[in-house]
Amino acid sequence: MPHIPVLLNEVIEGLTVKPGGLYIDATVGAGGHAEAILEASSPDGCLLGIDADEEAVRLASEKLARFGDRVVIVRANFSDLAFVARREGFIEVDGILFDLGFASFQIENPERGFSLYADGPLDMRYDRSKGFSAYHLVNRLKEKELAEIIRRYGEEPKAHRIARAIVRARPIRTTLELARVVEQVTGPGRGRLHPATRTFLALRIAVNDELGALRAALPQAVELLAPGGRLAVISFHSLEDRIVKEFFRRESRDCICPPEVPVCCCGHKATIRVITPKPIRPSPEEVEANPRSRSARLRIAEKITQKGGG
Ligand SMILES: C[S@@+](CC[C@H](N)C(=O)[O-])C[C@H]1O[C@@H](n2cnc3c(N)ncnc32)[C@H](O)[C@@H]1O
Repeated sequence: MPHIPVLLNEVIEGLTVKPGGLYIDATVGAGGHAEAILEASSPDGCLLGIDADEEAVRLASEKLARFGDRVVIVRANFSDLAFVARREGFIEVDGILFDLGFASFQIENPERGFSLYADGPLDMRYDRSKGFSAYHLVNRLKEKELAEIIRRYGEEPKAHRIARAIVRARPIRTTLELARVVEQVTGPGRGRLHPATRTFLALRIAVNDELGALRAALPQAVELLAPGGRLAVISFHSLEDRIVKEFFRRESRDCICPPEVPVCCCGHKATIRVITPKPIRPSPEEVEANPRSRSARLRIAEKITQKGGG
């Protein structure tokens, strides 16, 4: 199954893609959104595509080869966005996209360790050249630390019992072994969600420091935008959406002093204007055609010119 880009038209419209524009896709994946941005910015728009995953870099490079020197694809973590963008000559850009989380080619390959349904090693890293895999967290962390990860990032009410069961079942080597251990605690579950979904989500977030990378990248993205440039972020769970929402709220205010402070003393100046007071959600038709889009939320902001400044 090829990766189907989520909220594609909404992203192109939201970024107001135009010929000659400079764009950054910070999560280029299989290149679906990037391809549409390059088409909409024809004949001379340019795009920098970034991904931590070497397979994404390969897939996107193949898909986008026909755009020649209008496109550059780089393997990097988007927490280094400003450094990579400046190095590649992408400054004062017109639009930046983050489409967070994993792509179909990652979840569908059991070797990557993201899947709850096909057995594979406990990896879950986007960048397999760096850091600790899920195996390390599952088999090495103290029970308390593991419980905290599952509770905080998975918002899993049975986190402590799951962590205890994991520690007792060590060593756990594969995704299906882990899913079984979790299921013994949670029961078979009801509805669509696999009972180990929250635990897997929590481990994935921790392994890739997903929230830390997002927090680090958002201010860099605003900094890189030209006045009038647009930032679009698609998130797939409430923790990342909350980070985007709070960042947008804070950065769109001239003062961020606590409400009890009578006179502003922070000196903060708004850097963006929020275009989407409420996130854009996929239509029922899109969810039916692409169930992965179900939980997607798109937020868009525009860089503003500082009053009295540059
Ligand atoms: C949902 S997919 C993007 C799909 C893409 N928009 C498309 O249309 O094909 C998310 C991508 O972000 C990458 N990714 C996740 N976190 C990252 C990070 N911190 N830095 C760079 N890439 C990251 C993943 O490897 C994955 O390829």
